[in-house]
Amino acid sequence: MTSFRDRYGPWAIVTGASSGIGDELAKRIAACGIHVVLVARRRDRLEALASELEKKHAIETRVVELDLGSEQACADLVEATKGLEIGLLVNNAGFGMKGEFLDLDVAEQRRMIAVNCRAPLELTHAFAPQMVARKRGGVIVVASAAAFQGLPGTAAYSATKAFEVLFAEGIREELRPFGVDVLALCPGPTDTEGPRRTGVDPDKVPVKMMHPGDVAQAGLDALGARAISIPGFVNKLAYFLVRLLPRAFVTRIAGKLIRSVGKSPA
Ligand SMILES: NC(=O)c1ccc[n+]([C@@H]2O[C@H](COP(=O)([O-])OP(=O)(O)OC[C@H]3O[C@@H](n4cnc5c(N)ncnc54)[C@H](OP(=O)(O)O)[C@@H]3O)[C@@H](O)[C@H]2O)c1
Repeated sequence: MTSFRDRYGPWAIVTGASSGIGDELAKRIAACGIHVVLVARRRDRLEALASELEKKHAIETRVVELDLGSEQACADLVEATKGLEIGLLVNNAGFGMKGEFLDLDVAEQRRMIAVNCRAPLELTHAFAPQMVARKRGGVIVVASAAAFQGLPGTAAYSATKAFEVLFAEGIREELRPFGVDVLALCPGPTDTEGPRRTGVDPDKVPVKMMHPGDVAQAGLDALGARAISIPGFVNKLAYFLVRLLPRAFVTRIAGKLIRSVGKSPA
């Protein structure tokens, strides 16, 4: 049986490795003996993680401080990883915005589309060809359970995540004949900085938020086996209910839910 390292090494890129799910993905990938390129804006965090991983797993790391919302981000990452054999690309970096669509700043929503949609598209376009040529590799796109219905109260965010799921599903079929595995990892509520920054009060979330380590592990376990991974029993159940119930009804209920988990004004 081919090991994870043989299939997806020798180098992996993990975007958004400075916290949350990305940090956990990087730790688990490094534990398999794969060298990692750590990408995000907060260099100090990436450097701390890099030295931890090098000591613990005797692997190499490369830290790339990058704003994935910028126009030249993909070209900069290609340049920063020149000469490295990339076998795994993890498009994890992303952020959400909570609020009524018309109240949210349109420039910030455009930036969200750049980070959540344009970056995974451009990075996959840049790094998958070397995997295709070698006839092995993997691409993980960290989408969300928010992708499966319209979400009033965070409408544009859920739409970016729907893009990611459909993009991953489509290219999975295109790349499969070339030995390249693609996965859309679709977490439900997960206990990271992300939801807090967006204005979610964890105490008001009606389900237990998952640990980002469990989400990361579920994604790595599913890579190569499935098109979509939805970690957690309750999240899987919600996914099946969403598919069975009328869309307009689901959207209304989901909107009520998302609006109810906001922090109360101080
Ligand atoms: N937590 C949840 O409930 C949940 C649920 C479903 C899906 N997700 C998805 O999971 C992914 C990871 O989120 P998380 O929950 O782990 O949140 P997080 O802890 O806030 O992590 C987000 C990561 O993305 C990076 N990032 C954000 N904007 C960036 C930019 N412009 N350029 C480069 N890097 C950027 C951040 O790094 P810097 O700030 O250092 O740049 C950070 O490392 C996201 O795609 C999110 O949509 C999360």
